[in-house]
Amino acid sequence: MKYYQGKTVYVTGGSSGIGLAASVLLSSYGANVAIFARNKEKLKNALGKIESAKKSAAQRFWAVSLDVSDNRAVKKAMNKAVGEFGPPDMLVNSAGVAYCNDFEKTSFEKFDEEMRIDLYGVWNTCEALVPVMKVRGAGHIVNISSIAGLVGVYGYTAYSAAKFGLIGFSESLRGELKPNGVNVSVLCPPDTDTPQLHEEEKTKPAETKAISGNAGLYQPEYVARVMLRDALKRKFIIIPGLEGKFTYLMKRLCPWLVEAVMDSAIRKVRKQGVRK
Ligand SMILES: NC(=O)c1ccc[n+]([C@@H]2O[C@H](COP(=O)([O-])OP(=O)(O)OC[C@H]3O[C@@H](n4cnc5c(N)ncnc54)[C@H](OP(=O)(O)O)[C@@H]3O)[C@@H](O)[C@H]2O)c1
Repeated sequence: MKYYQGKTVYVTGGSSGIGLAASVLLSSYGANVAIFARNKEKLKNALGKIESAKKSAAQRFWAVSLDVSDNRAVKKAMNKAVGEFGPPDMLVNSAGVAYCNDFEKTSFEKFDEEMRIDLYGVWNTCEALVPVMKVRGAGHIVNISSIAGLVGVYGYTAYSAAKFGLIGFSESLRGELKPNGVNVSVLCPPDTDTPQLHEEEKTKPAETKAISGNAGLYQPEYVARVMLRDALKRKFIIIPGLEGKFTYLMKRLCPWLVEAVMDSAIRKVRKQGVRK
């Protein structure tokens, strides 16, 4: 993907999963990459992987420890980053956490954490970087939502609240920034084999597993490649894989059918007595 050669890309959550896969790919395409996440050890390891994929010695890479949910810290870090690395040609908001459990087992603290990182976190980076991207009159913002941002699935009351919100935010921002030459996309990945998914599995109810049980598991490299390719095509909603696209289409055309399929999976679990 020639477009990325020499471009500067900021990736939040670039130390793991989809964000890391995107950063490695970007490095192999010739881009300068700045990654942002909290854990310094993970950042250091990720930076090594990203650097080893580089195409030329002229490329530059940075790792910055940052909590995207902290509005003031984000402003400070992004101002510093723009001064040192230059403004981003692309911003990928991949930082996120996921929690899956019954509503009544989801604490307010978990809900708050989801909202602060997965929704407010994107607001914070956009608030800090949109002005510099607008001035340049070019660029791209890719926000990572989820299939759970398109369809409300059992167990995702907190996660879906943040991810649905992120799609609304992105759609509004898309319209605002288009006249300024800045594109906005939203990626809705299906289940992807990353540390986040493994974390989510720890509390995932049987009903959620029954609903998503037959859906495929994607690799972060595939999801990242589709994201970087389709962003260049200026697609707004990017859904890797056929199953996700089909689910989205069905949800739009006949939501009652999607609800009936999910309800039937839940009934089966309850009948088998997997749950009390
Ligand atoms: N995996 C899936 O099945 C799936 C499906 C749909 C959507 N998604 C979405 O895709 C995105 C990437 O997820 P992933 O699966 O790649 O997860 P992952 O492997 O767990 O990576 C998450 C990244 O976000 C960073 N992060 C988390 N909280 C942060 C914070 N407060 N500030 C800054 N960085 C933070 C993590 O680093 P630190 O913890 O060190 O900060 C890590 O680099 C998320 O938005 C997720 O919701 C994932």
